[in-house]
Amino acid sequence: MNLTGHTVLITGGGSGIGGGLAKAFHERGNKVIITGRREQILRDFASKFPGMETFTMDVSKDGDIQKLFKFVSDKFPSLDVLVNNAGILRMTDFTKSDPLGEDPYAEIDINVKGLIRMTTTFLPLLSKQKGSTLINVSSGLAYVPLSMAPIYCATKAAVHSLTMSLRHQLRNTPVRVIELAPPAVETDLGKAPGQEEFKYPKLGLEPFMVQTMKALESGAMELPIGQSKMLKLGGRLLPSVFFNMLNPKKAPMPNLQGEA
Ligand SMILES: NC(=O)c1ccc[n+]([C@@H]2O[C@H](COP(=O)([O-])OP(=O)(O)OC[C@H]3O[C@@H](n4cnc5c(N)ncnc54)[C@H](OP(=O)(O)O)[C@@H]3O)[C@@H](O)[C@H]2O)c1
Repeated sequence: MNLTGHTVLITGGGSGIGGGLAKAFHERGNKVIITGRREQILRDFASKFPGMETFTMDVSKDGDIQKLFKFVSDKFPSLDVLVNNAGILRMTDFTKSDPLGEDPYAEIDINVKGLIRMTTTFLPLLSKQKGSTLINVSSGLAYVPLSMAPIYCATKAAVHSLTMSLRHQLRNTPVRVIELAPPAVETDLGKAPGQEEFKYPKLGLEPFMVQTMKALESGAMELPIGQSKMLKLGGRLLPSVFFNMLNPKKAPMPNLQGEA
């Protein structure tokens, strides 16, 4: 992918990986529009980058996506890159009573349904350009699940699968479909108040962005970064070995039948 001269829309672009992408695209001479639910975070972030646009919205709300579409198609009809980055991670322990808690399907609503709705809404605009790019952010955990975040991993496996099918369906259109599969990266992902933090060795945002922009420039369509490369290969060749590596059995599973 040529990394300059585009109009780029990034969901969840005011922080974390989305913020890293927004900065990197802005620095390379692209018009960047960032979205997210927290207006002040978006404004504070964009104020560091002259010309960066913000739009406050929630990808799990169809009405918000329609408002965003109107804003972008009126003001930036040359949109040619959409980055479906917004996502959340929760720990879910199915051995507990009420494992899902409040807003039980938020990960599915945001990570999968939101991404699908953003894609169907913006495809007609992307298709009007001579060449455009859809970038879906999945995860290394799409290839090998981490059992403490089972719903999150299932949503990312869904994004991976969906992205492959989209790429095939859109092969004769102007829209190229890229999957970015980050490894564990230092961001606020999974740090919601009251939630146990996802403790795993993480790559810094800066080195992650260096590798990501290089991978985007390479022209490849599926971009596992860092450890995600190993998870992609290992998850295919030796799925149970890699699953056990990621999910060591420190304690035996409880015997739910009560047998000796
Ligand atoms: N960090 C990692 O280790 C890692 C690894 C693999 C994949 N990923 C993926 O990378 C993407 C970005 O994650 P991150 O690590 O940068 O997490 P993050 O630091 O928590 O950032 C997530 C961003 O998404 C926005 N967002 C969340 N829910 C939203 C919603 N309903 N509507 C609109 N925006 C929403 C957040 O802003 P608001 O809260 O203001 O809405 C925030 O800007 C996610 O898809 C994640 O699954 C991350």
